[in-house]
Formats: sequence, C-alpha cells, structure tokens
Amino acid sequence: MDSDLIERREDPASIYEAGRRFLRFPRRCPPARNRFSPPTGNGWIGALAIAMLLGSVGCGTPEQYDWPLPEGYPLPEVPADNPMTRAKVELGRHLFYDTRLSGNGEQACASCHRPEYAFSEPRPRAVGSTGELNRRNALALVNVAYNSTLMWAHPGLRRIERQLLIPMFGEAPVELGIAGREDEVLARFRRDERYRQLFGDAFPGEGRLEFTHIVHALACFVRSLLSFESPFDRYAYGGDDAALNEAAIRGIGLFFSERFECHHCHTGFNFTESTDHESSAMLDNPFHNTGLYNVAGDNAYPAEDQGLYDLTGDPADRGRFRAPTLRNVALTAPYMHDGSLPDLNAVLDFYAAGGRDIEDGEHAGDGRANAYKSQFVKGIDMTERERTEMLAFLNALTDPSFVDRAEHRNPFAE
Ligand code: HEC
Ligand code: HEC
Repeated sequence: MDSDLIERREDPASIYEAGRRFLRFPRRCPPARNRFSPPTGNGWIGALAIAMLLGSVGCGTPEQYDWPLPEGYPLPEVPADNPMTRAKVELGRHLFYDTRLSGNGEQACASCHRPEYAFSEPRPRAVGSTGELNRRNALALVNVAYNSTLMWAHPGLRRIERQLLIPMFGEAPVELGIAGREDEVLARFRRDERYRQLFGDAFPGEGRLEFTHIVHALACFVRSLLSFESPFDRYAYGGDDAALNEAAIRGIGLFFSERFECHHCHTGFNFTESTDHESSAMLDNPFHNTGLYNVAGDNAYPAEDQGLYDLTGDPADRGRFRAPTLRNVALTAPYMHDGSLPDLNAVLDFYAAGGRDIEDGEHAGDGRANAYKSQFVKGIDMTERERTEMLAFLNALTDPSFVDRAEHRNPFAE
C-alpha cells in the first residue's frame, strides 16, 4: 500500500449501542494531521464556533473550512497536502459540473453523479463520454470523505485525489476521456475568465492551472458532500422523538437484530464497513460476497467483474465487494455493483432468500449456494409487516437537505 496515503483514524462511531442512541461520537481531540493551516479572516470565527460545538477547543488551530456537520459528528480525515478551503470547494463544484472536463466535451462528473440521485445515477451501469459501457453502477457520493477505501472493490485506493484519476484519465473503459487531450482540456479552463478568478482564489500565487489543482479542488468538493440530516439522524442523535414513525423505529430494531444481520456489514454512522462483531482482520478487508451470483455452480461471479478477486487472484475473494453506505439509499436505485437489483423491494427479497438464484441465461446459477458467500447472508423469514418496517427505516435515511443544498448545486444553472 502507498505510504503517502492518509489512513483514516480509528472509527470512534463503530461502537454499537443496543439502546436508544445507536452510535456514539466521543468528543475528543482530532489527531494532529487532522488540522488545517492557520486560517485568516471571517472563516476563523466560524471555525472557532464549530470547534467549540465539537468540544475540540484547545486541540489546536481552528479549521479554515466550516464543515457542514451537526454538533458532535466527527471530522473527516483530510490529507495534509490538500487541506479544505472554501475557495477550493467552490472551484471543485464548478469543475464537477463542467462538461469541458471531458476530452470530447460531452460529459462531466455530474453526468454519472447526479445530485437528485444522491450523486449516483439511475442507469444500472455507467456509460462514458464516448459511449463505452462501464462494468459497474456509479456509486453515490455520500460522506465519501469518511470512506477508508474507495470504489466497489479496491482495498488499496484510499485517497480521493487518486481515485479521480480513473474517471479523468482511464482508458479501459473511457469515462471522461482526457488522456491524449490534456493540453486541450487545460487550455479550455486557463482561458476562461471565470476560472481564472476561481483558480486565483483557490490557489493564490501558484501560476497556471494544472491538473494537480483540478484534482485537489475536485477532491475538496467531493469531501464537502456530507449528509447527516436525515430523519434517522434527528431521531437517533438529535433527540427528536417525533422524527420517525413507529414503523421506521421498528425497522431500526430489525436492521440491528441478529435475525436480519444487516448491521454487521452496514455499520458505523455511515452504514458501511465492518464491525467489532467480526474478526479484526475483517476491519482491513471490509468486502463481502453476498451471494448475488454462482455462475455455472462454480462459485464464480460474471467473468467481467469478480470484485476483489480481480485484484488479488485469491479464490476466497471472488464476488467480494464493499458494503456501500445506506445513507440516501432510497435515491440511488438500481442497486449492487452492477445495478442488477432494480429497487429496495428486490434488495429485501434478495436478503430474505439468502442470495439470488438465477435460473437461466449466461449467468445461471444459485447464488444462495455460493461457497464464498458471507455467513451473515443466511436468509430471513421476513413477514410483510417487517418488510414495510425495514423499508420505512431505509427511507428514513434520506436527507432532503443533502440533495438540494445550495453549496452542492450546479453553478452553471444558477
Ligand atoms: C462515466 C461515468 C462516471 C464519470 C464521468 C465519473 N464517475 Fe465517479 N464513479 C463512477 C463509477 C461507475 C464508480 C464506481 C467505480 C468502481 O467501483 O469501479 C464511481 C466511483 C466514484 C467515487 C468513489 C466513491 C466511493 O464511495 O468509493 C468517487 C469519489 C467518484 N466516482 C467521483 C467522481 C468525480 C469527482 C468525477 C469527475 C472527475 C467522476 N467520478 C466521474 C462513474 C463515473
Ligand atoms: C455480509 C455483509 C452484508 C450483510 C449482512 C448485509 N449487506 Fe447489504 N450489502 C453488502 C454488500 C457487500 C453489498 C454490495 C454487494 C454487491 O454489489 O455485490 C450490499 C448492498 C446492499 C444494498 C444496495 C446498496 C447500493 O447502493 O447498491 C442495500 C440496500 C443493502 N445492502 C441493504 C442491506 C440490508 C437491509 C441488510 C439486512 C437485511 C443487508 N444489506 C445485509 C453487504 C452486506
């Protein structure tokens, strides 16, 4: 693993409480590498206010960037060489929505990561700027700042700054298709007056706009996409008993029960990662085979995408993918790494059955019997009432303010 990758500090929120407050956020000083350069101007006052709210006054320099976090939520880890600033987030927001960032001018990040779908998209699998089909479903960009690994199945990719190079410059498949047209793409931004201003604000005294600046600004924007104001948050952490109805509250109980097992893999405040219910080794390897496939009864996933196995070559890694966040999940259909389950009902059918039996076609095989399937996907005898309750809970993870926040919107549509 690359030594310059910043490791996320130990997740304080993986403490699961059986009671009313599900996940606690201890208020403690962030590690030194969490601090940003000394801020100037008004930002300092806001940052100090946040620091006081977080109970971290005395921990050092206050933050220059006002994280849009409710009281008590932990700050994300930020790489030392790309501290958050409002000006970089703003430049990143422009770039994210700008089709000039693709080789042929056809696509922007937002073409596949659309705000109304919690920065995912309704296509089962992404299609790049030249029309090439991606093997995977576009991930929602929700609280990515906290992810310890990026993409559906890539244990070594831990920095957003690196991940972005794939859609920008990747050639198999082509997404934004910048490779081979670098100078042309840079020239588009360098000669634009609006970008000259944005760039000057974000990177004062740094000469000309380069791809490093573009990547840093985009990463800052992605880190700013934080969602913590769902009805579930208001109920579980905000003390608002009226935020959820009875069905959703019972749904929480089911989600965290040993009968449904969901919380083993969708854990912590982001409903992703592994927990202390599993062996500690799993913490470094939060990828699971859920029994979606068992091609030809050979314990295989479709050859084009076998998840972690494609990187490690270890048969036990066949079909292992990251358990994605469930925040805003009601907005991100279709589901799974290849978008092969159309809606949340289909996902619940899938878990109830303990995997997926595909009767015919090229992927025929009984995923329920996949030898590499996690022991936690064992099938659930789910009543109709429980299904309704589980859906009520999953819907309560939708944060309406997230998809419509002014700071997240397309600046060219304003
Ligand atoms: C052609 C569609 C497409 C475009 C364009 C695109 N992405 Fe993505 N994005 C995806 C897909 C598909 C994945 C999942 C990739 C995988 O796991 O193999 C993804 C994954 C990501 C992730 C990882 C999220 C996580 O939780 O691990 C981030 C961050 C991201 N994209 C940001 C961006 C940014 C910023 C841009 C613009 C520079 C961009 N993407 C352009 C389709 C796209
Ligand atoms: C063994 C770990 C594990 C357990 C237990 C588990 N999940 Fe998952 N979940 C995953 C993984 C891994 C994926 C992605 C699988 C893939 O794409 O192949 C996933 C995907 C999902 C998705 C689709 C998310 C998206 O953005 O596409 C939903 C919804 C979901 N799980 C809900 C649940 C619920 C509800 C339960 C309990 C009934 C549950 N999960 C139990 C690991 C788990």
